[in-house]
Amino acid sequence: MQNKQEASAFVICDDLYKIFKVADIEVMALQGLDLTVGRGELVGIVGASGSGKTTLMNVLGGLTMPSAGQVIVDGANLLKLSTRELTTYRQVEVGFVWQQGSRNLIPYLSALDNIKLPMTLAGRTGREADGRARELMEKVDLPHRCDHRPIQLSGGEQQRVAIAVALANEPKLLLADEPTGELDSTTSDQVYDLLKRLNEEDGLTICIVSHDPTIAQHVQRVVQIRDGKLASETVRRRAPHPLASSPTRKEGEERALASTITTVGDDGSWEDHFEELIVLDSAGRLQIPKQYREELGFQNRVEMEVTEGGILIRPAQNLEQTSSQAEIQIEREIRGEENEASAGLLARLKGRK
Ligand SMILES: Nc1ncnc2c1ncn2[C@@H]1O[C@H](COP(=O)(O)OP(=O)(O)OP(=O)(O)O)[C@@H](O)[C@H]1O
Ligand SMILES: [Mg+2]
Repeated sequence: MQNKQEASAFVICDDLYKIFKVADIEVMALQGLDLTVGRGELVGIVGASGSGKTTLMNVLGGLTMPSAGQVIVDGANLLKLSTRELTTYRQVEVGFVWQQGSRNLIPYLSALDNIKLPMTLAGRTGREADGRARELMEKVDLPHRCDHRPIQLSGGEQQRVAIAVALANEPKLLLADEPTGELDSTTSDQVYDLLKRLNEEDGLTICIVSHDPTIAQHVQRVVQIRDGKLASETVRRRAPHPLASSPTRKEGEERALASTITTVGDDGSWEDHFEELIVLDSAGRLQIPKQYREELGFQNRVEMEVTEGGILIRPAQNLEQTSSQAEIQIEREIRGEENEASAGLLARLKGRK
């Protein structure tokens, strides 16, 4: 299989910020997020509730403009598109699938008419639209459900029709925000299989937001968002494994950061390595997971030491001597050369305690 990470960049998010303001309170939904998705890549996006996943989807879909940063999809800078170009982008270039069936489908229209609706809005009607809609119903394995209204379809079938609706105008990018959030695991697998097929057969670039811990098994790469910023990335690598005989997983799956997990196929013929790596941004920033910070007693200062094999980060010692954040900053500044003004400021700060 082609290494899709090496494919050319199709989506580029550069230092994205999104600030929402509600009643004078600002919420930073995205805080300097960098993300690159290759053309034809299938990427999973995970993260805690409120971490900014849907906001990112809305930005990529041209539904929300970022407060700062750049977003480029297939060479088009979304911030520079005119209102008309943006409308075309939303209608034709990108397809959306949401978690809630009610948001994806019009309840009083049949599955077929639901698929035809975005085509009509984009000016495609008549026989051509009908033919394309039927083709899509076949593609999602539901040719026998064309005349069913959403309420007459199961949850999994509704999501497959929703995918067909999203594909109606042949978008280059498919964004799915928790498409399996309301489905059981078997039905979820069918939806993932469909998305995988669309990716492999049609070369569609797909981003799937999920809370599903098994998402890594369905995609090539999973990126984790924490507090509006990319925190880590899990890459799956499949290799032949003739000696393995049963499905196993290494101990410590929950603590997979910066380590490798292996899953062996049922027939023992292959094994998948899931390698989770912490993302280092262009300014050299990385996020230390909360679990590690708590276990190791990290507060808001750490010590860093270059060792033979890498960098050792440990809780700062003697924090009690420099309890104020401002003091730490100023002490650093005046450490080398005594500066009268800085020393005076430090003395004033100390006096304030
Ligand atoms: N339209 C909005 N107005 C104000 N705040 C918003 C808006 N949309 C999102 N937020 C805030 O931005 C943050 C990120 O929200 P977002 O919906 O992107 O999270 P999420 O990762 O998709 O969460 P979930 O997993 O629960 O869907 C949250 O704190 C949320 O309250
Ligand atoms: Mg969300």
